[in-house]
Amino acid sequence: MERAYIEDVANHEGQQVELRGWLYSKRKGGKIVFLQVRDGTGILQAIVKSTCEAAFETAKQLSQESSLVVRGTVCADPRSKIGFELHVTELEALHLAEDYPISPKAHGAEFLLDRRHLWIRSARQVPLLRVRHEVMQAIRDFFHEQGFIATEAPLLTPISVEGTTTLFHTPYFDLGQAYLSQSGQLYLEATAMALGRVYWIGPAFRAEKSKTRKHLTEFWMAEGEMAFYSHDDNLKLQEALVQYVIGRVLTHKAPELEALGRDVTALERVVAEPFARITYDEAIDLVNGDEALAFMAQKWVQRRGTEDDERTSEAGSQPDQAALPALSASEVQQLVEEHRLRVSVGEDFGSPQEEAISQHFERPVFIEKYPTSMKPFYMEPDPDNPERVLNADLIAPEGYGEIIGGSSRMVDLASLERSLEQHNLPKAPYQWFLDLRRYGSVPHAGFGLGVERTVAWVTGVNHLRECIPFPRQIHRLSP
Ligand code: 4AD
Ligand code: MG
Repeated sequence: MERAYIEDVANHEGQQVELRGWLYSKRKGGKIVFLQVRDGTGILQAIVKSTCEAAFETAKQLSQESSLVVRGTVCADPRSKIGFELHVTELEALHLAEDYPISPKAHGAEFLLDRRHLWIRSARQVPLLRVRHEVMQAIRDFFHEQGFIATEAPLLTPISVEGTTTLFHTPYFDLGQAYLSQSGQLYLEATAMALGRVYWIGPAFRAEKSKTRKHLTEFWMAEGEMAFYSHDDNLKLQEALVQYVIGRVLTHKAPELEALGRDVTALERVVAEPFARITYDEAIDLVNGDEALAFMAQKWVQRRGTEDDERTSEAGSQPDQAALPALSASEVQQLVEEHRLRVSVGEDFGSPQEEAISQHFERPVFIEKYPTSMKPFYMEPDPDNPERVLNADLIAPEGYGEIIGGSSRMVDLASLERSLEQHNLPKAPYQWFLDLRRYGSVPHAGFGLGVERTVAWVTGVNHLRECIPFPRQIHRLSP
């Protein structure tokens, strides 16, 4: 008998197949037991009739999450979500599970996160992790197809990339302190000078003291680094990458998106239309304008109490799409003051401002050319205005925030040495990095895409902690 996976039962219609998996849930009629069987590729209803005596007895004993082997005929059924069900002829219980702690009723986020090793089996978490796989694979395929070389960067390093405030330290033998990598960028700059265009997908660590739905302390970043790429080349590549990734998820993971209740029309637009671009200075004017301030105030009222950490995707929670509440001019004014919604040059955009910007464009938007003083030491100044750098953050639509940070890298040795000094960074451990500007320095650029933020956006899930198998946050180190 042929072994099959649930995701391709359609290719086995009318055939006898063997499935191996777990019992997701069970319902009993008089002379019939309905088993929802999951195997990692999907959930299929298996029907066991009392006329099939041995299987019927086994089915009655099966507890939630018991492992099993089931054989039967694949039959089309229009009532089934996947269009098919299994008419069982044989059923073997491999292991009868103890009382399973996660019942189909709603549980709080902390309860589920404490049991993350089991929670990942649920009907929403499985499709979510399958979309994550597609995102990762699509990134690899995109770079590979473009002729990039996959490379690696160390995770234990003696230097910081993205400033010293979010560094994790660890004692390192006789050499003092090592840091956990915040980004592989500096090492990718070196491999780019050897190989031309390189990428990697690796973990990044940030000792983020904030507890938001958009921050993990350990997350995955896809980084590209390209010799001889201009700022414009860099942005074009990022746009092509994001469109490719979204397109791949739309074509290869449609059932998963449906299971997650994701409205795909917004994603289809992303693939079809060019992204918007705005400079940091223009964005400051935009968010301080009446339209954006009113939007942020309305969002604030709408979200009051619902930016709640307790919400998980199990409850099908999606960022609020409901109509915005009507507010008077003075109410808006008061909220703007109370929550400091106006920003001035030199300040970063928070979530409300990012959302107001993406709301304005209704598509992904690059915010480019930030003030030099706000950014890390390695960014190349804009030749038209040295107070600004050739960088861009890509803001995803629908409130998912920054998914990419990228920039042109400083080319000139003396300027880079000065920049290290201005950022109070010691020169000695960066000597190897400075060598890249001593031996055949070239204009180059790169970027880092946050994998979990991209997955959250694509799946429409509210919180990054569900977009990685085992999230690490300021208050969470287990399981
Ligand atoms: O903007 P960031 O800090 O850029 C860099 O690290 C560059 N060195 C990358 C490069 O040019 N090679 O981080 C890049 C992306 C962000 O846009 C965001 O999507 C994600 O990484 N990110 C986080 N994701 C989850 N939790 C956090 N704490 C994150 N910090 C950044
Ligand atoms: Mg950034």
